[in-house]
Amino acid sequence: MATRRILGIETSCDETSAAVLRVEDERPALASLVILSQDIHRVFGGVVPELASREHLRTIGPVVDRALAEAGIGASQLDGIAVTAGPGLIGALLVGLMYGKALAYGLGTPLLGVHHLEGHLFAPWLEEPTLAPPFIALLVSGGHTQLLDVEDWGRYRLLGQTLDDAAGEAFDKVGSLLGLPYPAGALVERLAREGRPGRFEFPRPMLRDGYAFSFSGLKTAVLRAVRASGDLEADKADLARDFQDAVIEVLVEKTARAVLELERDIAVIGGGVACNRTLADALRRRLEGRARVVVASPRLNTDNAAMIAAAGAWRLARGERSGLELEPFDAGPLPGLDSPRP
Ligand code: KG4
Ligand code: ZN
Repeated sequence: MATRRILGIETSCDETSAAVLRVEDERPALASLVILSQDIHRVFGGVVPELASREHLRTIGPVVDRALAEAGIGASQLDGIAVTAGPGLIGALLVGLMYGKALAYGLGTPLLGVHHLEGHLFAPWLEEPTLAPPFIALLVSGGHTQLLDVEDWGRYRLLGQTLDDAAGEAFDKVGSLLGLPYPAGALVERLAREGRPGRFEFPRPMLRDGYAFSFSGLKTAVLRAVRASGDLEADKADLARDFQDAVIEVLVEKTARAVLELERDIAVIGGGVACNRTLADALRRRLEGRARVVVASPRLNTDNAAMIAAAGAWRLARGERSGLELEPFDAGPLPGLDSPRP
């Protein structure tokens, strides 16, 4: 059967990443993955778009070369080039997109524009090649929070999404209130482990209210508690614990409800917040005996090019190609997304 080698390129935010994925008989084998995280944004407490573009521009060439070298192949051996087209920062996306386009044009190799969230959705398949829809997917990152019914690869139904902040954004903002550097998600999780539960009563926004999410009120509640604290240093672990418990309770409740209502037997968690072990463990406990919870390793859950190559490989195998007129986009639904449920 055919073996395909796909180069993935991801530059939607503050990671410059390239990967080579080999797909043989529909089974993936990751040949290389290079991820360069831009540290420069730490001092600003968030991603500065102009600086992100410049960093991508400086590093995209070496990062792609390194991915090819680690895979032990030359560019001419590629069967496809998959590039994140959006959603993301336009200037940042443009760097990867133009690089991918130039490479595809120069080599006469098919180009595939990939939706960043579809990449997150494919990440667990890289480690579990037999993973197949239907399943419920909770996509939780710095920019998105969506609950999807994945009827098939490429056929998605949006059950609900956040009305304001993304889950990762809430972790980052609360982390900043607690004096932690950006991005703070993993640090908040670590701090929460030392915290005692139940000292602060934070809201569980929209807990029983359909499948939509809202995190900005919770963030404001933490802000008020931080302001009221006489000794933030002493309180911060407990604050982190109660904040995280609130977020996780909402995410778990809605995901579990979707699994049970739609009678799916797999739940996938994807995106940067899927690195949160406490979240995955809580969902596993909640769905024990009812459904399996699948989560990729942290390296594949935060932004990376392997997941982009994976989604691109699937689209390539279906005969899809993007034209050189492909443009970056800052927002937009997954391809193959059905309309939201009323
Ligand atoms: O998917 P991702 O790498 O980038 C976007 O597409 O946004 O997600 C990054 C987000 C950040 O908000 C980061 O704080 C969060 O994922 N994150 C976590 C954890 N690790 C990363 N949030 C909670 N717990 C974690 N362990
Ligand atoms: Zn992402």
